[in-house]
Amino acid sequence: MKTLGLKLILISILFFQCSTNKNFMNQLKIEKKEFGTTEDNVTVYQFVLSNENGMEVSIINYGGIITSLKAKDRHEKYQDIVLGFNSLAPYEDENPYFGALIGRYGNRIAKGAFRLDDKTYNLDINNAPNHLHGGLKGFHKVVWNPKEIINDTNVSLELTYLSKHMEEGYPGNLDVKVTYTLNNKDELHVLYEAETDKKTIINLTQHSYFNLSGDFSEDILNHEIKINADAFLPVDETLIPTGEIRSVEGSPFDFRNLKLIGRDIDSNDNQIKFGKGYDHCWVINNQDAGLRHVASLYHSQTGRIMEIESDQPGIQFYSGNFLDGTLESKGEGYYNYRTGLCLETQQYPDSPNQKNFPSVVLNPNEKYITKTIFKFSSK
Ligand code: GLA
Repeated sequence: MKTLGLKLILISILFFQCSTNKNFMNQLKIEKKEFGTTEDNVTVYQFVLSNENGMEVSIINYGGIITSLKAKDRHEKYQDIVLGFNSLAPYEDENPYFGALIGRYGNRIAKGAFRLDDKTYNLDINNAPNHLHGGLKGFHKVVWNPKEIINDTNVSLELTYLSKHMEEGYPGNLDVKVTYTLNNKDELHVLYEAETDKKTIINLTQHSYFNLSGDFSEDILNHEIKINADAFLPVDETLIPTGEIRSVEGSPFDFRNLKLIGRDIDSNDNQIKFGKGYDHCWVINNQDAGLRHVASLYHSQTGRIMEIESDQPGIQFYSGNFLDGTLESKGEGYYNYRTGLCLETQQYPDSPNQKNFPSVVLNPNEKYITKTIFKFSSK
């Protein structure tokens, strides 16, 4: 009788906890599962990082790719909001860098050439006539060494990779570490670190395609975006910056207040024509402030919000203009025109060839360290 009473008390305490604490069923954890085997017969794993609210970020150690990211809408419904594939093979095939880590140099380098200390380095022309996103086998196509870390208030996946001297044409043995951390505030932190043994150039970024609607058959034109930038970098017809830093005032590039992406995306504007929509780098305000607010993305229909903070000088906003319905979606159907958008925090494109842009040189005995935070919420 006595034990029965005790049991009843315990059960009611448990029930009380369940009903008052919505986090009771969720916990900070990492689950590891096999995701597939590469063409070279290497096993690739998927790591599902989850927090106490039920948010989940899935990352594979091939390309450091975020394969799924579940964020809540205004009714606390968690849905996948990043484009990607269900299996490894399509990530190994040609695809537009879905969810991947990009290196050694994110974005374009004009004519695939740059000079360092009077020596010219030639890179792949994989986006004629330019070099794009680290080359044919950039960091998006290599297998990284994974390490799981579980703390009291967050979980991390640490990915390391040694890029050998002259890999894809870049000098120096480059030791790279990228740490993804999910915390209980629904923030995903991306910390990039690197060291080299010879003078080199570097510009790492993350290439997730977001669609906050959670429905990949919808385009992203109904998302509103705010970019904390008074200026952007105009480009030529091959998407290389002209060197000019132009005010956004009165142009389709003015996102200083939340604005619907669809509003000006088809404007009769040369820059919009060159980009086939938005595919430009914005010059983020307060360059010396370190980590600061960079951009906010809002989807009014679901209430989902994503905010970005970064210490980087630029952000490439790409509105998915090359998506053309040929790649099969994770859900039903195919990824059509503008069904995902990228917000890539980074150094400016083609910096090695542009005297007025901040330096992207990394010397031996220096440490490259930069951080970007993606914060998810709803209203
Ligand atoms: C980047 C570029 C775009 C395009 C995509 C991949 O974000 O800025 O021009 O090449 O990658 O398709």
